[in-house]
Amino acid sequence: MSKTTWSKIEEIIQNNKPGKKENIRGWIYRTRSSGNIVFIIVRDSTGILQATVKKGNLTDSEFENAKNALIESSVELKGVLREDKRAPNKIELQVTHLKVVNFAEPFPIVKDQSPEFLLDQRHLWLRSRKITSILKIRSTIVGAIHQFFRKKGFFEFDAPVLQPNQCEGGSTLFEVKYYKNKTFLSQSWQLYAEAGIFSLERIYNMGPTFRAEKSKTSRHLSEFWMAEMEAAWMDLYDVIEIGKDEVKFILKQVIEKNKPELKILERDVDKLIKILNSDFPTITYSEALRILNEEDSMNIKWGKDLRTLEENKLADHFQTPVVVTHYPVEIMAFYKPRDKKNPETALCFDMIAPEGYGEIIGGSERSQDIDDMVDRLKKMGEEISNYNWYFDLRKYGSVPHSGYGLGVERVVAWICGIDNIKDAIPFPRTLLRFRP
Ligand code: 4AD
Ligand code: MG
Repeated sequence: MSKTTWSKIEEIIQNNKPGKKENIRGWIYRTRSSGNIVFIIVRDSTGILQATVKKGNLTDSEFENAKNALIESSVELKGVLREDKRAPNKIELQVTHLKVVNFAEPFPIVKDQSPEFLLDQRHLWLRSRKITSILKIRSTIVGAIHQFFRKKGFFEFDAPVLQPNQCEGGSTLFEVKYYKNKTFLSQSWQLYAEAGIFSLERIYNMGPTFRAEKSKTSRHLSEFWMAEMEAAWMDLYDVIEIGKDEVKFILKQVIEKNKPELKILERDVDKLIKILNSDFPTITYSEALRILNEEDSMNIKWGKDLRTLEENKLADHFQTPVVVTHYPVEIMAFYKPRDKKNPETALCFDMIAPEGYGEIIGGSERSQDIDDMVDRLKKMGEEISNYNWYFDLRKYGSVPHSGYGLGVERVVAWICGIDNIKDAIPFPRTLLRFRP
């Protein structure tokens, strides 16, 4: 007996060959029957197709099964393609054989349910066209990031997830019992990457990152994926350029590969294409404050961090991502060096996405001044001995180096144009949610 070949719905639609025999398998997306006919919309990972099941075209028991199978039942169908003006893709399958692989129970998700309910049902809601589209775009983005760095000659380098020290401030650490000790889940790959560059010079990584964010926002997750890079001999402006190139590389691939998904998400693609063909401006923190205070009549004192509100106002002045450099040292992580020309500011940058999606990249040069770093860590109440290994990196052939981290879900949310970061990751973890 020859093995059945199964076609993907997307190919069937693209090939558009009425009269051709086809075998498909998937899940019932919608179903409606009237008398001796059942219209089933079948879904697979690539698309949806109408299948018409007529009594007489298949056995009576197959017809009964077609009538009885509820939404999300898994099915195998054989039949002949036919043009149909009313079908979603103007083509349908006239079914001659139908096998229900699993009769689904009544599906708990119906129209217009609350976001919280959908998050409770996340394991099932992943099948929705919206989430499926986002997941495909996410896959493009993750692939693009690997390609980008590998093309540029970066090596992939892995850091431990369990770390004895903080990187981005103690207040967002997740503590983990470690035999008789305690460790923390990684807040960043960076400190270990700074050891790796003395061996590999240019490295990158993408991995899960953990922050106990105590506020509920549409941009913060407790577990997210960060794509980071670190490079020896590079200064702030070198890595800013890489960051801009990386974002454009990602954007280009999504625009090329994910047109159908962007359409399902109703994303304004022209906006994205314009961004791809524009330069991203770079301004200083002081310049950002001037814009906010003079042009938006805000009253932000020098030294304050830019919160969501300020970032969004600032983003409104630009059609593209904007890079902001030289934030005040006082509000920056301990490893961000002072700018010698203006020691109150740090040699650091954030890239802020347009349309209110906030900071998508944060990065900096790395301090070479052990005393200054010790001071800053002490002020945060850190146990200095946990960082001696890190200071060693400054003692044995240190070189200027820089790096940054890109928030994968922030970029997914922005490119997809979705209103909550929770939909940018399959199973979101937030202050209030760690199930399913
Ligand atoms: O700006 P952050 O905190 O930078 C670092 O962790 C550096 N150590 C990176 C480096 O230089 N290697 O985080 C980097 C990016 C942010 O710009 C943001 O896009 C994302 O990570 N991010 C979050 N995304 C989702 N949920 C959160 N709670 C996030 N916190 C940061
Ligand atoms: Mg940051």
